[in-house]
Amino acid sequence: MIKFKEVYKTYENGTKAIRGINLDIDDGEFVFLVGPSGSGKSTLVKLITGEICATSGVVEVNGYDMTRIKRRQMPKLRRTLGVVFQDFRLIDKKTIFENIAFAMRIVGAPTKEIRPRVEYVLDLVGLPGCADSYPLELSGGEQQRIAIARALVNNPSVIIADEPTGNIDPARSLEIMRLLEQINELGTTVLVVTHEKELVNRFAKRVVVIDSGRLVGDGVSGYYSYEE
Ligand SMILES: Nc1ncnc2c1ncn2[C@@H]1O[C@H](COP(=O)(O)OP(=O)(O)OP(=O)(O)O)[C@@H](O)[C@H]1O
Ligand SMILES: [Mg+2]
Repeated sequence: MIKFKEVYKTYENGTKAIRGINLDIDDGEFVFLVGPSGSGKSTLVKLITGEICATSGVVEVNGYDMTRIKRRQMPKLRRTLGVVFQDFRLIDKKTIFENIAFAMRIVGAPTKEIRPRVEYVLDLVGLPGCADSYPLELSGGEQQRIAIARALVNNPSVIIADEPTGNIDPARSLEIMRLLEQINELGTTVLVVTHEKELVNRFAKRVVVIDSGRLVGDGVSGYYSYEE
């Protein structure tokens, strides 16, 4: 579960990126986070992943109070989160298998569990049999599927994707969203940040809208509007 209570974030240079957000995301939800450029979406994501800390207010993620979490507890929290980035962030010199296996190794997974689990997540994202390929041998959409497989490999309870379709053509973008929807149906909470209104409106999902660091809408796809 993710909970924001009166959260403010002011960056060191004085930019007020988040200005009084209250938000609850329950286990198992699928949520789109939308809003104009600079409205604070990525800041909100970074508050959830612990990359940055709130200036005031409370951020709770999977039972951890992010304002009080101890450094040594961070790896445990991070294991409950799978993060997908716009630019995939795959390691070009490693095979697909190694890219995904790496995420398991850093959390100390037993070696014999790695191969079957990597094969399972590759199957789940619809790319069985590409374990021995290299990232640059795949299309942008396929690379993003690999990034999603990697985010899933440690069985997180929440997947957070910040503009996962930002570098992908519209048809492939829809497939990526459908994949995230399917992952959500298997029980994982999904939070997707996106600019793409048309894409959001093809789904009937919860849409949280932020503008200038404030929550300005919370409803179901197709019923919101905002100025770019
Ligand atoms: N590290 C930082 N230091 C100072 N200001 C920052 C920093 N990161 C972001 N900001 C500012 O905070 C505000 C919110 O930025 P943020 O990246 O959260 O927006 P966003 O909604 O993700 O935008 P986009 O849609 O363009 O990705 C912007 O005014 C931005 O310039
Ligand atoms: Mg952003």
